[in-house]
Amino acid sequence: MFDAEKFIEEAKAQITNQVKEGRTIIGLSGGVDSSVAAVLGHSVLSDRLVAVFVDHGFMRKGEEEEIIKVFQERLGMNLRVVKAQERFFEALKGTEDPEKKRKIVGKVFIEVFEEEAKRVDAKYLMQGTIAPDWIESSGGIKSHHNVAGLPSGMVLELVEPLRDLYKDEVRIVARALGLPENISERMPFPGPGLAVRIIGEVTPERVKIVKEANAIVEEEIKKAGLMPWQAFAVLFRDKSVGVKGDIRDYGHTIAIRAVESVDAMTAVAMDIPWGVLKTIQRRITGEIAGVTRVLYDVTDKPPATIEFE
Ligand code: XMP
Repeated sequence: MFDAEKFIEEAKAQITNQVKEGRTIIGLSGGVDSSVAAVLGHSVLSDRLVAVFVDHGFMRKGEEEEIIKVFQERLGMNLRVVKAQERFFEALKGTEDPEKKRKIVGKVFIEVFEEEAKRVDAKYLMQGTIAPDWIESSGGIKSHHNVAGLPSGMVLELVEPLRDLYKDEVRIVARALGLPENISERMPFPGPGLAVRIIGEVTPERVKIVKEANAIVEEEIKKAGLMPWQAFAVLFRDKSVGVKGDIRDYGHTIAIRAVESVDAMTAVAMDIPWGVLKTIQRRITGEIAGVTRVLYDVTDKPPATIEFE
C-alpha cells in the first residue's frame, strides 16, 4: 500500500540533500505532476524555487487564472507567468504538419524557459518526471541523465522528486498535500495543448473556437458525474455544410473525444450517455458562432491514438 505521508517526508529530505544553494526553476503547467513537484519543492526551498508558467496561448479556458489563484495566491509560491502567445502564433504561422507544430511549440517553449532560467540564475531544474516517463514500455530502462543542458550551454542539475511514482500515486500525493480537486484530478493535457487539437494551421480564431468547445465538453462531462481519463474537443480542418435559416452554409466541425485508460498506452472510447452528448452538441452549436456540426469519436486506441494529431 502506497504511503503518501512517508513519500512526502522522503521526497522533502531528498530535495534538502540535493539542493545545496542557489535557485531552482520548474516549469509549471498546472498538470498534476509538475504541480506536485512544485509544491514539494516549495515546501523545502520556499522562494528559492521559481515556478515558471509559460502561457503559449494553447491552454484550456481559465487555466492561467486557476494556476495563479492556486500557486501564487493560495500557496504563496514564487511564480512567474510569461505571456508568450504572440511568439508562439508567429512561429506557428502557416504550419500544418502535426509533428512540425509540436517541434515549433517545443522549441519556442525552451527559448522562453531558458530566458527565465538565465534571468533568475538557476542552478537546478526541477521536473515532475514520473516512472512511465523514463521506463521504456519494453521494461528496459533508459540511460540515466542527471544534468540538463539548455541550448545556450547553461547546465542545470536535475531534481526529480517523483521519479519512482505512477500517475495514481501522484494523485494520492496531490490529495495528501491538500491540492484542490481541479489539480489533483486534472486530466492529462498535451504539452503543445490546443495546438494539437486544431487539425491544420493554428490561428487565434481557431484557438478560440476549440477552447470554448473544450470548456463545454469538460463542463458537461463533469456535470454528468463522468470520470474519463481524458475528454476534449478537436477542431477539424475542413468545414462541412450546414444550414443557417433556410440557406446552406459552410461551418466548422468539432469532434468530441472521451476515453477511459489507465496509462494512455491503450484506451477505450467512453460510453457517454446519449443525452449528455446531445447537450454538448446543442451547447457547442448554439454558443459558438460558425460551428455547424459535432461528431463523437467511437474509436479505441489502438487503432486510433488518443489525440487526433
Ligand atoms: P496519443 O495521442 O499518442 O496520446 O494516444 C497518449 C497520451 O499522450 C498525450 N500526448 C502528448 N503529451 N505532448 C505531450 O506532452 C504531446 O505532443 C502529446 N501528444 C499526445 C495525450 O494527451 C495522451 O494523454
